[in-house]
Amino acid sequence: MSKFAVVTGASRGIGFEICTTLASKEHHVMGVARSQDKLATLEEQYPEYIYTMPVDLTDEQAVAKLTKRIEEYKNGVDIIINNAGALINKSFSELSLSDWRAQIESNLITAVNLTQQLLPSLNESAHIVNISSMGGFQGSAKFPGLAAYSVSKGALSTLTECLAVELSDQNIKANALCLGAVQTEMLEQAFPGIEAPVSAKKMGDYIADFALNGSELYNGKILPVALEDPE
Ligand SMILES: NC(=O)c1ccc[n+]([C@@H]2O[C@H](COP(=O)([O-])OP(=O)(O)OC[C@H]3O[C@@H](n4cnc5c(N)ncnc54)[C@H](OP(=O)(O)O)[C@@H]3O)[C@@H](O)[C@H]2O)c1
Repeated sequence: MSKFAVVTGASRGIGFEICTTLASKEHHVMGVARSQDKLATLEEQYPEYIYTMPVDLTDEQAVAKLTKRIEEYKNGVDIIINNAGALINKSFSELSLSDWRAQIESNLITAVNLTQQLLPSLNESAHIVNISSMGGFQGSAKFPGLAAYSVSKGALSTLTECLAVELSDQNIKANALCLGAVQTEMLEQAFPGIEAPVSAKKMGDYIADFALNGSELYNGKILPVALEDPE
Protein backbone atom coordinates (compact mmCIF):
# COMPACT_ATOMS: atom_id res chain seq x y z
CA MET A 1 0.00 0.00 0.00
CA SER A 2 1.27 3.46 -0.89
CA LYS A 3 2.27 5.54 2.15
CA PHE A 4 2.64 9.29 2.69
CA ALA A 5 5.93 10.46 4.23
CA VAL A 6 7.09 13.89 5.37
CA VAL A 7 10.88 14.13 5.02
CA THR A 8 12.87 17.12 6.28
CA GLY A 9 16.28 18.10 4.95
CA ALA A 10 15.16 16.95 1.50
CA SER A 11 17.19 19.37 -0.62
CA ARG A 12 20.48 17.47 -0.53
CA GLY A 13 22.51 14.69 1.05
CA ILE A 14 20.77 11.86 2.86
CA GLY A 15 17.31 13.48 2.84
CA PHE A 16 17.31 13.90 -0.95
CA GLU A 17 18.12 10.20 -1.35
CA ILE A 18 15.46 9.13 1.17
CA CYS A 19 12.84 11.00 -0.90
CA THR A 20 13.84 9.49 -4.25
CA THR A 21 13.99 5.98 -2.78
CA LEU A 22 10.52 6.28 -1.26
CA ALA A 23 9.13 7.72 -4.51
CA SER A 24 10.75 4.96 -6.58
CA LYS A 25 8.66 2.52 -4.50
CA GLU A 26 5.50 4.53 -5.32
CA HIS A 27 5.17 6.19 -1.93
CA HIS A 28 4.14 9.84 -1.74
CA VAL A 29 6.59 12.28 -0.16
CA MET A 30 6.46 15.86 1.09
CA GLY A 31 10.08 17.01 0.98
CA VAL A 32 11.01 20.04 3.10
CA ALA A 33 14.11 22.25 3.24
CA ARG A 34 14.96 25.92 2.67
CA SER A 35 16.55 25.74 -0.82
CA GLN A 36 13.72 26.14 -3.32
CA ASP A 37 15.90 25.46 -6.40
CA LYS A 38 17.17 22.14 -5.05
CA LEU A 39 13.67 21.12 -4.02
CA ALA A 40 12.52 21.81 -7.60
CA THR A 41 15.25 19.44 -8.84
CA LEU A 42 14.01 16.83 -6.36
CA GLU A 43 10.41 17.15 -7.56
CA GLU A 44 11.52 16.70 -11.18
CA GLN A 45 12.82 13.21 -10.34
CA TYR A 46 9.37 11.83 -9.48
CA PRO A 47 6.74 14.52 -10.17
CA GLU A 48 3.91 12.06 -9.56
CA TYR A 49 5.09 11.18 -6.05
CA ILE A 50 7.23 14.01 -4.67
CA TYR A 51 5.80 17.34 -3.50
CA THR A 52 8.01 19.92 -1.89
CA MET A 53 7.69 23.11 0.12
CA PRO A 54 10.51 25.52 0.94
CA VAL A 55 10.37 25.98 4.71
CA ASP A 56 12.86 27.16 7.31
CA LEU A 57 11.97 24.72 10.09
CA THR A 58 13.15 27.20 12.71
CA ASP A 59 10.38 29.60 11.57
CA GLU A 60 7.19 28.75 13.47
CA GLN A 61 4.90 30.55 11.02
CA ALA A 62 6.42 28.76 8.05
CA VAL A 63 5.95 25.41 9.82
CA ALA A 64 2.31 26.32 10.51
CA LYS A 65 1.82 26.89 6.74
CA LEU A 66 3.48 23.56 5.99
CA THR A 67 1.19 21.83 8.47
CA LYS A 68 -1.86 23.35 6.78
CA ARG A 69 -0.70 22.12 3.41
CA ILE A 70 -0.08 18.61 4.75
CA GLU A 71 -3.57 18.57 6.30
CA GLU A 72 -4.91 18.86 2.73
CA TYR A 73 -3.73 15.30 2.06
CA LYS A 74 -6.83 13.59 3.34
CA ASN A 75 -5.27 10.16 3.75
CA GLY A 76 -3.05 11.39 6.60
CA VAL A 77 0.65 11.01 7.31
CA ASP A 78 2.20 7.55 7.72
CA ILE A 79 5.86 8.53 8.21
CA ILE A 80 7.78 11.54 9.51
CA ILE A 81 11.54 11.50 8.98
CA ASN A 82 13.12 14.30 11.00
CA ASN A 83 16.35 14.40 9.01
CA ALA A 84 17.12 18.14 8.68
CA GLY A 85 20.11 19.19 10.71
CA ALA A 86 23.16 21.40 10.93
CA LEU A 87 26.65 20.91 12.33
CA ILE A 88 28.89 23.47 14.03
CA ASN A 89 32.48 22.22 14.42
CA LYS A 90 34.16 24.32 17.16
CA SER A 91 36.06 23.40 20.27
CA PHE A 92 34.13 23.68 23.53
CA SER A 93 36.16 26.74 24.50
CA GLU A 94 35.15 28.52 21.27
CA LEU A 95 31.47 27.55 21.17
CA SER A 96 29.37 30.63 21.98
CA LEU A 97 26.03 30.38 23.70
CA SER A 98 24.42 31.41 20.44
CA ASP A 99 26.16 28.45 18.75
CA TRP A 100 24.68 26.17 21.41
CA ARG A 101 21.23 27.68 20.95
CA ALA A 102 21.50 27.37 17.16
CA GLN A 103 22.43 23.67 17.38
CA ILE A 104 19.63 22.87 19.81
CA GLU A 105 17.22 24.84 17.61
CA SER A 106 18.16 23.21 14.30
CA ASN A 107 18.68 19.65 15.53
CA LEU A 108 16.09 19.30 18.30
CA ILE A 109 13.45 22.05 18.43
CA THR A 110 12.67 21.78 14.70
CA ALA A 111 11.84 18.07 15.16
CA VAL A 112 9.84 18.80 18.33
CA ASN A 113 7.76 21.47 16.62
CA LEU A 114 7.10 19.67 13.34
CA THR A 115 6.20 16.41 15.08
CA GLN A 116 3.86 18.19 17.49
CA GLN A 117 2.18 20.15 14.68
CA LEU A 118 1.66 16.98 12.63
CA LEU A 119 0.22 14.87 15.47
CA PRO A 120 -3.42 15.44 14.38
CA SER A 121 -2.50 14.32 10.84
CA LEU A 122 -0.71 11.13 11.87
CA ASN A 123 -2.39 7.85 10.98
CA GLU A 124 -2.64 5.03 13.46
CA SER A 125 0.57 2.98 13.24
CA ALA A 126 2.51 5.95 11.87
CA HIS A 127 6.30 5.81 12.23
CA ILE A 128 8.42 8.75 13.38
CA VAL A 129 12.11 8.34 12.50
CA ASN A 130 14.54 10.81 14.05
CA ILE A 131 17.94 11.05 12.40
CA SER A 132 20.48 11.25 15.18
CA SER A 133 24.22 10.71 15.19
CA MET A 134 26.80 8.35 16.69
CA GLY A 135 28.12 11.49 18.43
CA GLY A 136 24.89 11.53 20.46
CA PHE A 137 24.91 7.79 21.17
CA GLN A 138 25.66 6.95 24.78
CA GLY A 139 29.12 5.45 25.25
CA SER A 140 30.34 6.10 21.69
CA ALA A 141 33.75 7.65 21.03
CA LYS A 142 33.42 11.43 20.84
CA PHE A 143 34.96 13.82 18.25
CA PRO A 144 36.57 17.06 19.48
CA GLY A 145 34.65 20.04 18.09
CA LEU A 146 31.26 18.38 18.16
CA ALA A 147 30.07 19.07 21.72
CA ALA A 148 27.02 21.17 20.82
CA TYR A 149 26.14 18.99 17.82
CA SER A 150 26.48 15.73 19.78
CA VAL A 151 24.47 17.04 22.73
CA SER A 152 21.67 18.20 20.41
CA LYS A 153 21.58 14.74 18.80
CA GLY A 154 21.62 13.00 22.18
CA ALA A 155 18.58 15.06 23.13
CA LEU A 156 16.86 14.10 19.86
CA SER A 157 17.47 10.43 20.71
CA THR A 158 15.94 10.86 24.17
CA LEU A 159 12.96 12.69 22.67
CA THR A 160 12.40 9.57 20.57
CA GLU A 161 12.08 7.36 23.65
CA CYS A 162 9.62 9.84 25.18
CA LEU A 163 7.50 9.99 21.99
CA ALA A 164 7.27 6.20 21.81
CA VAL A 165 5.74 6.14 25.30
CA GLU A 166 3.46 9.15 24.90
CA LEU A 167 2.06 8.11 21.51
CA SER A 168 1.61 4.43 22.27
CA ASP A 169 -2.18 4.91 22.78
CA GLN A 170 -2.44 5.74 19.08
CA ASN A 171 -0.10 2.88 18.17
CA ILE A 172 2.36 5.43 16.76
CA LYS A 173 5.97 4.21 16.80
CA ALA A 174 9.14 6.32 17.13
CA ASN A 175 12.75 5.31 16.60
CA ALA A 176 16.07 7.13 16.32
CA LEU A 177 18.86 6.14 13.95
CA CYS A 178 22.32 7.24 15.09
CA LEU A 179 24.31 7.53 11.90
CA GLY A 180 28.04 7.15 11.53
CA ALA A 181 29.94 9.13 8.89
CA VAL A 182 28.16 9.48 5.53
CA GLN A 183 29.69 11.22 2.50
CA THR A 184 27.63 14.42 2.24
CA GLU A 185 28.17 18.17 2.03
CA MET A 186 27.64 18.47 5.80
CA LEU A 187 30.50 16.07 6.47
CA GLU A 188 32.75 17.60 3.79
CA GLN A 189 32.19 21.13 5.13
CA ALA A 190 32.92 20.08 8.72
CA PHE A 191 35.87 17.81 7.92
CA PRO A 192 37.35 18.76 4.49
CA GLY A 193 38.93 15.83 2.68
CA ILE A 194 37.34 13.16 4.90
CA GLU A 195 36.31 9.94 3.18
CA ALA A 196 33.28 8.27 4.73
CA PRO A 197 32.65 4.56 4.24
CA VAL A 198 28.99 5.08 3.29
CA SER A 199 27.41 7.12 0.46
CA ALA A 200 24.32 9.31 0.88
CA LYS A 201 22.48 7.00 -1.55
CA LYS A 202 23.25 3.88 0.49
CA MET A 203 22.20 5.52 3.76
CA GLY A 204 19.11 7.07 2.11
CA ASP A 205 18.04 3.62 0.86
CA TYR A 206 18.54 2.13 4.31
CA ILE A 207 16.59 4.87 6.11
CA ALA A 208 13.73 4.70 3.58
CA ASP A 209 13.46 0.95 4.13
CA PHE A 210 13.66 1.36 7.91
CA ALA A 211 10.94 4.03 7.85
CA LEU A 212 8.66 1.70 5.87
CA ASN A 213 9.32 -1.53 7.79
CA GLY A 214 11.28 -0.87 10.99
CA SER A 215 8.27 -0.12 13.19
CA GLU A 216 7.17 -3.77 12.89
CA LEU A 217 10.08 -4.76 15.14
CA TYR A 218 11.33 -1.59 16.84
CA ASN A 219 9.74 1.09 18.99
CA GLY A 220 11.38 3.68 21.22
CA LYS A 221 14.80 2.42 20.18
CA ILE A 222 18.01 4.37 19.68
CA LEU A 223 19.85 2.39 17.03
CA PRO A 224 23.47 2.86 15.92
CA VAL A 225 23.87 2.69 12.12
CA ALA A 226 27.62 2.67 11.74
CA LEU A 227 30.32 0.32 10.52
CA GLU A 228 32.73 1.35 13.26
CA ASP A 229 32.66 3.47 16.38
CA PRO A 230 32.45 6.45 15.78
CA GLU A 231 32.08 5.83 12.03
N1 LIG B 1 26.66 13.06 6.98
C1 LIG B 1 27.00 12.46 8.11
O1 LIG B 1 28.14 11.95 8.26
C2 LIG B 1 26.02 12.36 9.24
C3 LIG B 1 26.38 11.61 10.37
C4 LIG B 1 25.49 11.51 11.41
C5 LIG B 1 24.26 12.14 11.34
N2 LIG B 1 23.94 12.87 10.24
C6 LIG B 1 22.64 13.55 10.23
O2 LIG B 1 21.93 13.19 9.06
C7 LIG B 1 21.06 14.26 8.68
C8 LIG B 1 21.30 14.60 7.22
O3 LIG B 1 22.64 15.00 7.09
P1 LIG B 1 23.40 15.26 5.72
O4 LIG B 1 24.77 14.81 5.91
O5 LIG B 1 22.59 14.78 4.57
O6 LIG B 1 23.43 16.86 5.76
P2 LIG B 1 23.34 18.00 4.64
O7 LIG B 1 23.87 17.49 3.34
O8 LIG B 1 23.97 19.22 5.23
O9 LIG B 1 21.78 18.22 4.54
C9 LIG B 1 21.09 18.82 5.60
C10 LIG B 1 19.67 19.09 5.14
O10 LIG B 1 18.97 19.76 6.19
C11 LIG B 1 18.32 20.91 5.64
N3 LIG B 1 18.17 21.92 6.68
C12 LIG B 1 19.12 22.35 7.56
N4 LIG B 1 18.61 23.31 8.35
C13 LIG B 1 17.30 23.47 7.98
C14 LIG B 1 16.25 24.32 8.42
N5 LIG B 1 16.42 25.22 9.40
N6 LIG B 1 15.05 24.23 7.81
C15 LIG B 1 14.86 23.34 6.82
N7 LIG B 1 15.81 22.51 6.36
C16 LIG B 1 17.02 22.58 6.93
C17 LIG B 1 19.24 21.34 4.50
O11 LIG B 1 18.54 22.04 3.50
P3 LIG B 1 18.59 23.61 3.20
O12 LIG B 1 19.97 24.10 3.44
O13 LIG B 1 18.11 23.68 1.78
O14 LIG B 1 17.58 24.17 4.15
C18 LIG B 1 19.63 19.98 3.92
O15 LIG B 1 18.62 19.51 3.05
C19 LIG B 1 21.38 15.43 9.63
O16 LIG B 1 20.44 15.47 10.67
C20 LIG B 1 22.75 15.05 10.17
O17 LIG B 1 23.00 15.62 11.43
C21 LIG B 1 24.78 12.99 9.19
